[in-house]
Amino acid sequence: MSAPYILVLYYSRHGATAEMARHIARGIEMTGLEARLRTVPGVSTECEAVAPDLPTEGALYATLDDLKNCAGLALGSPTRFGNMAAAMKYFLDGTSSLWLTGALVGKPAGVFTSTSSLHGGQESTLLSMMLPLLHHGMLITGLPYSEGALLETQGGGTPYGPSHFAGADNKRPVDEHEIALCRALGQRLAQTAQKLESIRG
Ligand SMILES: Cc1cc2nc3c(=O)[nH]c(=O)nc-3n(C[C@H](O)[C@H](O)[C@H](O)COP(=O)(O)O)c2cc1C
Repeated sequence: MSAPYILVLYYSRHGATAEMARHIARGIEMTGLEARLRTVPGVSTECEAVAPDLPTEGALYATLDDLKNCAGLALGSPTRFGNMAAAMKYFLDGTSSLWLTGALVGKPAGVFTSTSSLHGGQESTLLSMMLPLLHHGMLITGLPYSEGALLETQGGGTPYGPSHFAGADNKRPVDEHEIALCRALGQRLAQTAQKLESIRG
């Protein structure tokens, strides 16, 4: 049995959601728990397109075992028409075996996203990403307003989870408030997982 870890599972095309994932991982590691960064392959409209076994750069592709054995989950996707990217939905649609066995029941989870416009669907994306996790029986942890950055941010950041406003050219960096909220989610997930683990004994 490996040491407990929080899975930070994301899809990112241009790098913003990937950068948020690294900040969330930092927050997890600040608690002493391991953060496992994993991504999912893109999907295409070509009927038989197959991704290489290893991504050309960045995190490894997630396996079902990565998800099954995690102590908690941070799930991230860019906003696509107010919803999560098809690549992430495709991966989640392949998790029926975990649903049937209740593998994720009672584990904490949080969600994060990046958009190019400030009011272009961050909240709707975050809320829709929670739905499959609720079906899996996960315990959704948002962000409380005791996180000062939630009130101070001029960019992303919501009580439903961290978000990032990347701008029309996708060049706006993840700013200090957005980073603080990514880290806060990572810490919250890790601490919740540890507390739940101690109750279960
Ligand atoms: C097909 C498509 C749909 C998108 N829909 C939205 C949207 O509804 N609202 C928005 O603000 N940005 C939208 N975007 C922009 C991405 O959400 C934005 O560029 C995001 O920061 C990309 O994250 P990434 O760098 O992790 O790939 C869309 C982009 C694509 C390609």
